[in-house]
Amino acid sequence: MYVILLGPPGVGKGTQGVLLADHLGWDRVVTGDLLRAARAQGTALGQQAEHYMDRGELVPDTVMIDMVRDKLSSMPAELGAVFDGFPRTDAQASALTMMLGTLGRKIAHVVVLQATDEVLVRRISGRRSCPKCGSVYNVFQNLPEVEDTCDKDGSALTHRADDQPETVPHRLEVYRKLTEPLIAYYDASPVPIHHVDGEGSLDEIQNNVRAALGLAQG
Ligand code: AP5
Repeated sequence: MYVILLGPPGVGKGTQGVLLADHLGWDRVVTGDLLRAARAQGTALGQQAEHYMDRGELVPDTVMIDMVRDKLSSMPAELGAVFDGFPRTDAQASALTMMLGTLGRKIAHVVVLQATDEVLVRRISGRRSCPKCGSVYNVFQNLPEVEDTCDKDGSALTHRADDQPETVPHRLEVYRKLTEPLIAYYDASPVPIHHVDGEGSLDEIQNNVRAALGLAQG
């Protein structure tokens, strides 16, 4: 089963995606992480993406679609997957439907997570990430055991360049303009779409996501 997690920056797509995929033994297609890995490795793609990401702009569709096509080709058909951060535009959504169709697969559900802008800005300002393994923490909730240090591999936690206060309003604007319309896109499609409150405890939200997907709750 393939599930798309849709929602604004900071709403918890990554956090809930990890909980869901770990619980079910699924794969994750996280385009933000794929781009950050490319940047860390200094690849041509990473250098191209840097310019867009640090300004809170979307990386061009052609680049993203090729990246997801590559990822899909390495995913075993029997394994479920959570899509986090893709699709983000109409062109990406259409391309995903076509790419999956070619492979005889399809999106089973879309889950839209929602929260107020005030909550999103606070979560983003408090986010700290591990540059090595991608684990995500927050200074207001979900602190690491040792300050500014990843619990999993001991790396020093960082504040993402695109999480700076001057970039966040633009990321929210880009979401409203280019990604939020995908809610109407999937509403008009046969794929079931579920709206889940992204405010509350991690477990409450995870239970609501699982309930929306018709899965047993934890
Ligand atoms: P990406 O990495 O996808 O960023 P995003 O969509 O802006 O989402 P975030 O990672 O900011 O938030 P999230 O919803 O995953 O929240 P999280 O779980 O971390 O993309 C970055 C950039 O890459 C884009 O701007 C673009 O340039 C480029 N890009 C990526 N994909 C692209 C695409 N398809 N096309 C074009 N460009 C693309 O949670 C946030 C914080 O809140 C964390 O600290 C977490 O611990 C905390 N938190 C989570 N849930 C709760 C809760 N319930 N209560 C309290 N705190 C919580």
